[in-house]
Amino acid sequence: MIETIATTPYDDQKPGTSGLRKKVPHFQQPNYAANFIQSIFDAAGLSGGETLVIGGDGRFYNREVILTAIRMAAANGYGRVIVGQGGLLSTPAASNLIRKRGASGGIILSASHNPGGPNGDFGIKYNIANGGPAPEKITEAIFEKTKTISRYRIWTETPPDISRLGEAKLGDMVVEVIDPVADYAALMEQLFDFGKIRDLIASGFTLAFDAMHAVTGPYAREILENRLGAPQGTVRNGVPKEDFGGGHPDPNAVHAAELIGTMMGDDAPDFGAASDGDGDRNLIMGRGIVVSPSDSLAVLAANAHLAPGYAGGIAGVARSMPTSQAADRVAEARGIGIYETPTGWKFFGNLLDAGKVTICGEESAGTGSNHVREKDGLWAVLLWLNILAERRESVKAIMESHWAEFGRTFYQRHDYEEIDKRAADGLMGSLHDRLASMAGQRFGTLVVSEADDFSYKDPVDGSVATGQGIRIVFSGGSRIVYRLSGTGTKGATLRVYIERYEKDVSRHGQDPAEALKELIETADAIGEIRKRTGRSEPDVVT
Ligand code: G1P
Ligand code: ZN
Repeated sequence: MIETIATTPYDDQKPGTSGLRKKVPHFQQPNYAANFIQSIFDAAGLSGGETLVIGGDGRFYNREVILTAIRMAAANGYGRVIVGQGGLLSTPAASNLIRKRGASGGIILSASHNPGGPNGDFGIKYNIANGGPAPEKITEAIFEKTKTISRYRIWTETPPDISRLGEAKLGDMVVEVIDPVADYAALMEQLFDFGKIRDLIASGFTLAFDAMHAVTGPYAREILENRLGAPQGTVRNGVPKEDFGGGHPDPNAVHAAELIGTMMGDDAPDFGAASDGDGDRNLIMGRGIVVSPSDSLAVLAANAHLAPGYAGGIAGVARSMPTSQAADRVAEARGIGIYETPTGWKFFGNLLDAGKVTICGEESAGTGSNHVREKDGLWAVLLWLNILAERRESVKAIMESHWAEFGRTFYQRHDYEEIDKRAADGLMGSLHDRLASMAGQRFGTLVVSEADDFSYKDPVDGSVATGQGIRIVFSGGSRIVYRLSGTGTKGATLRVYIERYEKDVSRHGQDPAEALKELIETADAIGEIRKRTGRSEPDVVT
């Protein structure tokens, strides 16, 4: 039976870079999740009988919200919900299911790489029929609905058991519980030459994958161990836990330090990788080398044709603005399109749908292609493995020959986390005020050639996004970018992105910190970071 429950609005349900993200206790306030889900349904323009995909990264509170979402879907006229067994679906797997099953959309419960547990983070994302994150006009519409919501609809009976595969009914709606891995693994088999990768592994090539106690564990075990023949134990931390074992499921230098340590050792495996909470990010390593995500995007763009799914070549590449320009150099050399978008995967959807680009990437360890409409951690791992299986060179050798051909873009991102919100706004505001007078200014050997606040006009639908980050470009092409995170749940996070292009092969062996030294100092001088935030060092350097 449908029950209509009276509710009142919350004023803080504006989706950020990637859905609505708050601390778990915040989400546990009365009707907080239900208000947002009803607002999604109200903004979705349902005509009845639609299919909805529901799943999440398994973090604390996942199951409760999934059960609520199923009951609300039944009361809002959906014909079918497709739910991952136990409530699990990685973000790319959910994107695939939406597309494959012709769903009108999907609800993905995740706060990505943020920590989980009763005091950790939680999040709700809505994806549309193309499988991708809702674009800004839809997230805006959802936000508008949250401001005036006065009721939500929910089915009174409890839903069927989501830990058992199969179909059951809730009212008129079918609840279909599926194996979260099967469709995704089948898609990967279509894109990549599993036979060749299996041969590579059988020939003694060794690998390690850290699932960080998050959702990719079951996917990686099935694909890497069962289908590709990597020995058991290749996948570490492979059982998803509600609190990710107490860690941050973020594959970066701080949180994946153990695997990075292994990869730097004398007896390191040939290849190492890790993924994040919801399986859309990736970290790629070889023996003695961590591949920066911006470089990984460039290498994948240059070599994708070696995998069967991309044998015809790629149409173009898109990268988020703060991502290094390494991929641009590949696109220029190959004569394919290159697009620079604001941060967040939602800006790639139109370009992918229109066939303008095949591969997309962000410096934040996200790469993906037109196979789904989300970034995809295991996809990046498998494309790398396919390339390695074809080239039979080490990761390090591939990087060195890539830099020799295209030049090396040294790159770092510095994060200042949980800084005072007012100080952060003041810093950005001051930069903004000084933009007009910036060109021509000299800092040491660096001369500013251009400075702006990045805005983007979508070439497909003409929509405009403004205020997407302050860019300071120096003559010679070096860049410093400043922006505030749109995914944090406490205070503000300042991200400073620093890059420098180096064509001279004899200098490619430099340590990025050394190669970027002057720019790093200049970033503090121009941004007044120390003065305004009181911080002398970033919390995380990636
Ligand atoms: C961060 C990353 C961004 C990514 C997003 C979601 O957003 O920087 O590239 O798309 O997480 O995974 P931010 O916190 O910078 O707004
Ligand atoms: Zn993620």
